[in-house]
Amino acid sequence: MSEMIGVVGAGTMGNGIAQVAARAGYAVVMRDVQDDFLARGVAAIERSLQRDVDKGRLTGEEQRAIVGRISTTTDIGALAEAHFVIEAVTENLQVKTEIFRALDEITQPGAILASNTSSISITKLGAATRRPDQVIGMHFMNPVPVMKLVEVIRGIATSDETYERTRQMTEQLGKTALECNDSPGFVSNRVLMPMINEAIFTLYEGVATRESIDGIMKLGMNHPMGPLTLADFIGLDVCLAILNVLHSELGDPKYRPCPLLKKYVDANWLGRKTGRGFYNYGDK
Ligand code: 3HC
Repeated sequence: MSEMIGVVGAGTMGNGIAQVAARAGYAVVMRDVQDDFLARGVAAIERSLQRDVDKGRLTGEEQRAIVGRISTTTDIGALAEAHFVIEAVTENLQVKTEIFRALDEITQPGAILASNTSSISITKLGAATRRPDQVIGMHFMNPVPVMKLVEVIRGIATSDETYERTRQMTEQLGKTALECNDSPGFVSNRVLMPMINEAIFTLYEGVATRESIDGIMKLGMNHPMGPLTLADFIGLDVCLAILNVLHSELGDPKYRPCPLLKKYVDANWLGRKTGRGFYNYGDK
């Protein structure tokens, strides 16, 4: 396949997306602002692929070929030839808007600009460009190599052609596209985050221990992880940012983030990535 995919951001989601795209045969250019972020992203990809090497599902040679299809850069201009760009940077409207403006300047006119945002308006990101019809949401789930879903979000101006090309791209990546309209939190986080927030409230109010809360939801509802474990996995700062978007954009007090979540974020207890959240993960 000669088509090139650009990925902006080498963090958990960005490197997961780059891995899946390279594994599907695409040439990938992954961009971040610092070389050490890129090096960490590539190391995470190698580790993730190593799981399949260890299980005999991938040869070492295939692993090297996949990683070899990913080039890294700190220069956003290196994405100029990409026919499809997926942005996966921090959940900050201003940062994302600046990236979309820059991508619009440098990429070819036909390129689709997708955002992996978990809650920011696709319509707003589209409005930062001169091609809002070619701006779309592609919301991958963590861990990207494992999870089948891509929530594909249409902004108010997203064209049917852009949606169709994005749906096809999602299938090329071995994922399932499910469509939704632009609305705060889309479907996934509109439903997931109030559940996580309510679990934190039950802990905050002393209704049960963290182990009970997680165990009840795991064993009782067949969830793969309890909600507090899942919050630690997603990142408590990310959960708080999404709840803040739901609260401010929908204006309904039912989305009010639990004070305990805010306190944990203030303490930099962000979950697995900082070694401590609702649980301890040792030194990270
Ligand atoms: N890379 C590659 N493979 C991975 C992986 C990774 N990072 N993490 C796990 N895997 C693979 C394992 O190798 C294993 O493969 P196998 O079954 O083929 O042997 C498989 O996934 C299961 O992993 P484990 O046996 O290690 O552990 P679990 O059975 O507990 O599964 C899990 C781990 C897949 C993370 C599971 O706990 C799970 O599905 N959790 C819920 C995840 C979830 O809800 N994600 C969505 C979060 S919300 C989101 O992302 C949206 C955002 O906007 C907030």
